Amino acid sequence: MAIRLLLFRGLSTYSRSSMGYLKEKVIYDMVSDTATKPTDEMFEIMKQASREDDVYHEDDSVVALERYVSELTGHEDGLFCASGTMTNQLCLRAHLTQPPHSVLLDARSHVYIHECGGLAYHSQANVTPVHAKNGIYMTAEEVANNIVGEDIHNSPTRVISIENTLNGLIMPIDEIAQISALARSRGIKMHVDGARLWNASQETGVSLKEYGQHFDSMSLCLSKGIGAPIGSILVGSRAFVAKCRHLRKLLGGGWRQAGSLAAVAHWCIENIMPSMPHTHQQAKRLAMSLEAFGCSLVYPCMTNQIWLDTTATGVSTKLLAEALAKHGIKISAGNGCTSRIVLHHQITDEAIDQFIATATALFKEYEGSKPLAITGSFNITAYATPSQ
Ligand SMILES: Cc1ncc(COP(=O)(O)O)c(C=O)c1O
Repeated sequence: MAIRLLLFRGLSTYSRSSMGYLKEKVIYDMVSDTATKPTDEMFEIMKQASREDDVYHEDDSVVALERYVSELTGHEDGLFCASGTMTNQLCLRAHLTQPPHSVLLDARSHVYIHECGGLAYHSQANVTPVHAKNGIYMTAEEVANNIVGEDIHNSPTRVISIENTLNGLIMPIDEIAQISALARSRGIKMHVDGARLWNASQETGVSLKEYGQHFDSMSLCLSKGIGAPIGSILVGSRAFVAKCRHLRKLLGGGWRQAGSLAAVAHWCIENIMPSMPHTHQQAKRLAMSLEAFGCSLVYPCMTNQIWLDTTATGVSTKLLAEALAKHGIKISAGNGCTSRIVLHHQITDEAIDQFIATATALFKEYEGSKPLAITGSFNITAYATPSQ
């Protein structure tokens, strides 16, 4: 909590001095956990970083971050990159050497629907999207039933790509272990888009190393719940990471004096990650209050995301967003009656209280009104879902 207050103080100073141009003052941005703002304290960390050239891998802060995360995840090496899209696509490209080949994944995966068709563009790969029957995660049985085998007509499965968390949902470690054993028995590589694996690990108590042993490559975003300004890191074997480093240069992603970004990301892992369980508690408290008003949840709230459906209350998510904006709380106006709310370390308990008080007043005003006739909904397996 001390960290949370300290960071938030840094943020409000920043807001006052340099965000006056914004139309509405946003104090609490709940649109995404990518919305966290670098604080004054973070800029101080950045100043202390080394300032050498990462294309030649000569920067101490970058090397230290890569070593730190590869140790945390139990892998040999790491590569610090600009974005999660880049680390995902580099990993998949490095695994996928020669078409015809395909990637098996959950139909809602970021690598499939929110990375600009990168699998087709970079890797010439076909995709086998699996629609998880339980609505939460694809099971080992579903994976087994969808693996594309060797046949003259097929593009065989070469990689199974898992996302954890996916839409804030946690895939159980036992299921991952079963899928991994299956993959290994078939010579298939395992990749995880772990943009929010930090959240899964903090919520379940399963260490990053325990997760790590089941994957050949991992992509871990630093600019989401971890709160770093920029970056994502991939890990894998030494040879694999060397290949990704070469491919990163091909994409124009070799960056020079990246030390300040690495140093602050390192600091954020150590200082912000431990605050995730509190963020998850806040999300669950808010979700329960919203359910008590008659809202429903598209998915159970397991970590930091609330997938809200206000249809039964007669209040659109746009109305709710407008009411909250008056108190400095920003949520997505959503799609009719559905909106995704995402919490992070810069959301205080007071902001949650304010959210609940505002929603209480609004829902009371509309009490007794009919459920909205025209409802928007998440098309949960397609492009209409939030991308961040
Ligand atoms: C699950 C997931 N993976 C990957 C990414 C890509 O990250 P970036 O925006 O840094 O490219 C995102 C972005 O929101 C994401 O939510």
